[in-house]
Amino acid sequence: TDPAVIRNFCIIAHIDHGKSTLADRMLQITGVVDDRSMRAQYLDRMDIERERGITIKSQAVRLPWKVGETDYVLNMIDTPGHVDFTYEVSRSLQACEGAILLVDAAQGIEAQTLANLYLAMNADLTIIPVLNKIDLPAAQPEKYAAELAHLIGCEPEDVLKVSGKTGVGVRELLDHVVANIPAPVGQAEAPARALIFDSVYDTYRGVITYVRVMDGHLGKRERILMMSTGAAHETLEIGVISPEPKIADKGLGVGEVGYLITGVKDVRQSRVGDTVTSVTRSATEALGGYEHPKPMVFSGLYPVDGDDYPELREALDKLQLNDAALVYEPETSAALGFGFRCGFLGLLHMEIVRERLEREFNLSLISTAPNVVYRVIMEDGKEVTVTNPSEFPTGKVDKVFEPVTKATVLVPSEFIGAIMELCQNRRGNLQGMDYLSEDRVEIRYTMPLGEIIFDFFDQLKSRTRGYASLDYEPFGEQEAELVKVDILLQGEAVDAFSAIVHKDKAYGYGVEMAKKLRELIPRQQFEVPIQAAIGARVIARENIRAIRKDVLAKCYGGDISRKRKLLEKQKEGKKRMKMVGRVEVPQEAFVAALSTE
Ligand code: GTP
Repeated sequence: TDPAVIRNFCIIAHIDHGKSTLADRMLQITGVVDDRSMRAQYLDRMDIERERGITIKSQAVRLPWKVGETDYVLNMIDTPGHVDFTYEVSRSLQACEGAILLVDAAQGIEAQTLANLYLAMNADLTIIPVLNKIDLPAAQPEKYAAELAHLIGCEPEDVLKVSGKTGVGVRELLDHVVANIPAPVGQAEAPARALIFDSVYDTYRGVITYVRVMDGHLGKRERILMMSTGAAHETLEIGVISPEPKIADKGLGVGEVGYLITGVKDVRQSRVGDTVTSVTRSATEALGGYEHPKPMVFSGLYPVDGDDYPELREALDKLQLNDAALVYEPETSAALGFGFRCGFLGLLHMEIVRERLEREFNLSLISTAPNVVYRVIMEDGKEVTVTNPSEFPTGKVDKVFEPVTKATVLVPSEFIGAIMELCQNRRGNLQGMDYLSEDRVEIRYTMPLGEIIFDFFDQLKSRTRGYASLDYEPFGEQEAELVKVDILLQGEAVDAFSAIVHKDKAYGYGVEMAKKLRELIPRQQFEVPIQAAIGARVIARENIRAIRKDVLAKCYGGDISRKRKLLEKQKEGKKRMKMVGRVEVPQEAFVAALSTE
């Protein structure tokens, strides 16, 4: 295909502003999915695929579109919409020349609208501002067109208005894409260079790699090279998605977007951001700097039933085939037994992984409170990286560094006070504030990542009746006065409950945890002291009083079979108990103590 008739674009939007619905309408209007019944079937099939995690849908769909007498090829490239995957979003943006910035006409600009817009501007994309859902009675197109125009510096009349639901304005939008987004440019005769912008694992076909060719040409049965690893593979199949995979016999040339299959079984061998070139005629320079995804948040994952440990290992192995960013290593906890310490890109990533493990692999899991990565400098100059609070060094600590983020909150202006109070509380530093319109404000803070991962988002929502939206990105590290708080049962530290907290909050954490555990742990045959301590210094204490537990006392004489039953039952109960020293702690107590906050 002649690059002059190609247009590569993506749709960027805040969650729920209607990206998928608009994409579906484009499939229909361009005739890629023809009549109505076929469309319904098509979507159903996609649902199943999505359930199975294959998501062929709109990684990159090729759409034919005619303007005047010219047949154009539009490649619509999907971007993962969330902050945790910023690196991946920025890579998929590199595969485009333009972006449709989609905003819900009843909601206006939200935090991820901004975050994605800034990424698109950094990638030098042509931005097409579009208001969606104009069919809604609550839509305020005039108001939000002004807001959007103000944000990107255009006239309110330049903002297109569409409804992904009814299809109004979508044809005009496609014409606009052709007229305004530049055609790709590249060197057709140069050695091949293609950017991997997505990589998914399919049970039957192995890894499907989505690429955008920048220079040269990639063909079938060609030996290709992954530039970051130096690994070579042969392309077994190369093609485009429209919306079914279609083999491209001539391969892919400059500006083209498609997929390739090499028979590789693990997405880590075909990573987003890497450059593909040809073995026989290799490019010397990769496209952009390739970055390894770096885990930011860690948590221990343990099976509720210790017997499920092998299943958990297998499930993690399988999940990793499809998720290059997930890292894990075996870990043992005195309290929780055998499990894994897992690293995630962020909180959402963590939730997704946990949910997939539970849903797709039918596991029930305990996860320890999430923590960030600390860099500890000892007085003797040694440096320790701590990904698990219980490994916080006990010797003479000189300095501790914690990761910091740049956080952006968007709220109606009436909530400014509430937001500032919350952020101050979380050791935030106000960086600036801008009015997007007279009643909506963008507030910027720098804040420790460790403060954001503890229910910050929930607090934000509950203090603003759900109106606030949040986005954050890594912003280096800072020195902080952090200490490790241990929780001791009968003098013995329970590793799963150790936490690294700011020294001003250590007391509060200790008191709260001790109280919570007093309520959660049943009384034992002996008194159990619960203590919170920093090193050897006890900062809080609670007591669980002793009881004399005698189940047989309830059986008045005689009935031996009933007695046996009761004893059996007691034994059953014990199995679900974890022993911490001499103390029996029910599994539920761990779950409950670790779940809230
Ligand atoms: P995520 O994939 O979750 O980020 O959402 P999305 O941005 O893809 O939004 P999606 O297309 O799933 O739409 C979100 C909701 O808005 C759905 O309930 C849609 O039915 C609805 N919606 C999308 N477009 C329109 C529109 O033009 N008009 C109306 N009335 N509703 C719409």
